[in-house]
Amino acid sequence: MKHTKRLYGTIIFLFAFLIFAFFYTGHNEKVAKNKIPKVGVLQLMSHPALDQINQGLDDTLKKHGYINGKNIKIEFQNAQGDQSNLRTISKQFVQDNVDVAVGIATPSVQSLKNATSTIPIVMGAVTDPKGFGIIPSNTKPGGNITGVSDQAPLESQLKLIREIMPDLKNIGIIYTSSDMSATTEMKKMKKIAAKQGLNVTVSSISNVNDLEQVSTSLSQKVQAIFVPTDNTVASGMKLLSSIAAKQNIPVFPAATTMVKDGGLATYGLSQYELGEQTGEDVVKILRGKGKPATMPVTFIKKGHLILNEKQAQKLNITFPESVIKRAQKEGKIIK
Ligand code: TRP
Repeated sequence: MKHTKRLYGTIIFLFAFLIFAFFYTGHNEKVAKNKIPKVGVLQLMSHPALDQINQGLDDTLKKHGYINGKNIKIEFQNAQGDQSNLRTISKQFVQDNVDVAVGIATPSVQSLKNATSTIPIVMGAVTDPKGFGIIPSNTKPGGNITGVSDQAPLESQLKLIREIMPDLKNIGIIYTSSDMSATTEMKKMKKIAAKQGLNVTVSSISNVNDLEQVSTSLSQKVQAIFVPTDNTVASGMKLLSSIAAKQNIPVFPAATTMVKDGGLATYGLSQYELGEQTGEDVVKILRGKGKPATMPVTFIKKGHLILNEKQAQKLNITFPESVIKRAQKEGKIIK
């Protein structure tokens, strides 16, 4: 009798244990599945600068132990410069309930902002987040958006241009009228150059198809062309620099990656470093160590001096010795 009682007790205990174990593991599996964070990356289009930003972001996530497909899901989408793609992808990220959405370039961030006011958004290089009305304050963003600015050091850039071309009097600027970051920088550069007594001629394009005609005619009026961080011009930089070179006119771009594509020189921010900082922000949010509302926008101050020796030879321009020395020390010379 005693034995049977004990047997019953054991059986009941075992049953209870099995039922508990069944639910417990089921529950655990669910938690584990939910725990793989999802990051949506929306890149405006493909050009070397934005590609570098994405590379820096990817490498930084890896550096912090996030391996795509294993303990993180990175959903990368390229909008091919198309507004309706931007909208569709942004909505998709919200539907997928991503943990963090990254917008590379201003239009991507604006589109994500229109799609959600709750999911954290990290800006991968927006030139002037406050000025564009994306956030009310760069130091205290207040909402669901923070990130990195790629504001170019325009004063240092003009200083470099004048060191390389001491006789410069007429400078041209090409920008895309619909590109907010390019428009802002064009206006700033125009002001700085005019203050220094230079004549500034500004030409705008609507899309990449205008580039050939506009740069041909501008090259006839100026001694050098400056281009801001302009997404359309960045994608057509090889074309622009070769057209200008035919008339012996150098192109000085605002971004380092554009020097590789035929620009003559710049003192600019590393696009890769912008991506790295974007990645640091994403990791901070994923780990619950920060919220966009209280994470200030990062402005990277340190630039890199990049010279294109090959282009200089084409244009019959010799870099001053002092500039070459600086580039050898803290920058790069493309040969
Ligand atoms: N600042 C641009 C924007 O806000 C994006 C960008 C970052 C960019 N780096 C660049 C554009 C270099 C041209 C070249 O949209």
